Amino acid sequence: MAKKTETKLDFGSKWDYSSAPESAGHAEIKKEYGLYINGKFVKAEDGKKFASISPSTDEHIAYFAEASDKDVDKAVKAARKAYNEVWGPMAPKERAKYIFRIARLIQERAREFAVLESIDGGKPIRESRDVDVPIAANHFFYYAGWADKLEYAFPGKTAKPVGVAGQIIPWNFPLLMAAWKLAPALACGNTVVLKPAETTPLTAMKLAELIHDSGLPAGVVNIVTGAGATGAAIVNHPDVDKVAFTGSTGVGKIIQKAIAGTNKTATLELGGKAANIIFDDAPIDQAVEGIINGIFFNQGHVCCAGSRLFVQENVKDIVIKKLKDRLSTLIVGDPMDKNTDVGAINSKEQLDTINKYLKIGVEEGAEIYQPNCTLPKKGNWCKPTLFLEASQSHRIVQEEIFGPVLTVQTFRTIDEVIDKANNTPFGLSAGVWTDKGSKIFNLTTKLRAGVIWANTFNKFDPTSPFGGYKESGYGREGGLQGLSPYVKLS
Ligand code: NAI
Ligand code: MG
Repeated sequence: MAKKTETKLDFGSKWDYSSAPESAGHAEIKKEYGLYINGKFVKAEDGKKFASISPSTDEHIAYFAEASDKDVDKAVKAARKAYNEVWGPMAPKERAKYIFRIARLIQERAREFAVLESIDGGKPIRESRDVDVPIAANHFFYYAGWADKLEYAFPGKTAKPVGVAGQIIPWNFPLLMAAWKLAPALACGNTVVLKPAETTPLTAMKLAELIHDSGLPAGVVNIVTGAGATGAAIVNHPDVDKVAFTGSTGVGKIIQKAIAGTNKTATLELGGKAANIIFDDAPIDQAVEGIINGIFFNQGHVCCAGSRLFVQENVKDIVIKKLKDRLSTLIVGDPMDKNTDVGAINSKEQLDTINKYLKIGVEEGAEIYQPNCTLPKKGNWCKPTLFLEASQSHRIVQEEIFGPVLTVQTFRTIDEVIDKANNTPFGLSAGVWTDKGSKIFNLTTKLRAGVIWANTFNKFDPTSPFGGYKESGYGREGGLQGLSPYVKLS
């Protein structure tokens, strides 16, 4: 008789996945990138440049020109000329064709953009591939559709472009933020000088190449690279009509001061400290998954991240247990691996900031929990972190950390959680998890936040307006509302 054999499968305590790296062979990276001014790629006048470094490997990626006041002046002059001579006078339906073409080209080159975004910024390829790039293309599609329909967007009024827009964007969604800024500005007939963040200039310069290939007339979009001084040169240029900024509340305040007393208008999309509220009647497993996604998505480099969790007291133990269990299965590491959940922290500076807050949280007496995962040796990494027993007065609860760090507090009544959730200088977003529609509507009318998600989190769509209250800034991007900052109505 044949001996009975038994196959024993041992998966250990959790599933281990073999790595599934995305190929980067098709993505071309030049040694050096110039500024895109007046339809040409040019060096900075004084020849200055800076390097972008991969946050996941510490490797040098490429050099980028550092634009000075003189370069910004050239870009603004090109934008003004294009506004007066080409883009302003063009029939709206012709403008729409260019914007549609940009959208389609992004779709065609989606894989290349996704790979470059993950290399330069450190975010998991799954996110750049499934979130950043498709939504960026959708923004261009959506606003291309509005270009020749502004009379329906603003019934009974005539909508004219504002002129030259200066747009400054951060490093957390480099391509997507460029799309949020460019698409509505172009659709309304404005021309643009755009500056990406100094740690993530790569996809912006790729976008410049794509825009160039689209045949968009010279000077309509100018893209200049550099750090804060380049941004300030755009804000302070006398011939910029409108400033659009996404970034820190500190720089937002500087910009507001700089434009006070001028004719410039501004939209500011600044920091956040979103409350994610989970009631005892919520579907707990889905809620836990949403809470995890809400803060660990993009390493917590999200202005609307659900960074403060409020759990109804009677489900605290089960929620915390499930959160800890889920945290231990998150895969932290190589952004180019398709299995990765949490990628690299965008820069050494940002990692220092996050580590500073981890120390502060412990000193303040909150209980820190991190899973037992190993981090890569090179690059900037932070373990996903929970701070249990956090309290309202803690700095980790009040200040924006912008990293994979979730504070956990409890509540008993609805009024209590509304008070606690609103007790912050920010007001960008919030989340509610409950089975009851009435509770959702009660909270959405009382929470002071620009965006409130119910039984989901961090969902974006070009048709929905996005923006904040209080120190989270003002103005809306996305949707019909996102057209308003780019038109003068009469
Ligand atoms: P930042 O506000 O300094 O950078 C954002 C953009 O503004 C970059 O393009 C930068 O070059 C530019 N900039 C810097 N100084 C400027 C100035 N004086 N005038 C005009 N433009 C200027 O943000 P940073 O230092 O990279 O991050 C610091 C903190 O800001 C983060 O820890 C996070 O809390 C918050 N932040 C919020 C973002 C959001 O999406 N709301 C995005 C990035 C950062
Ligand atoms: Mg970089």
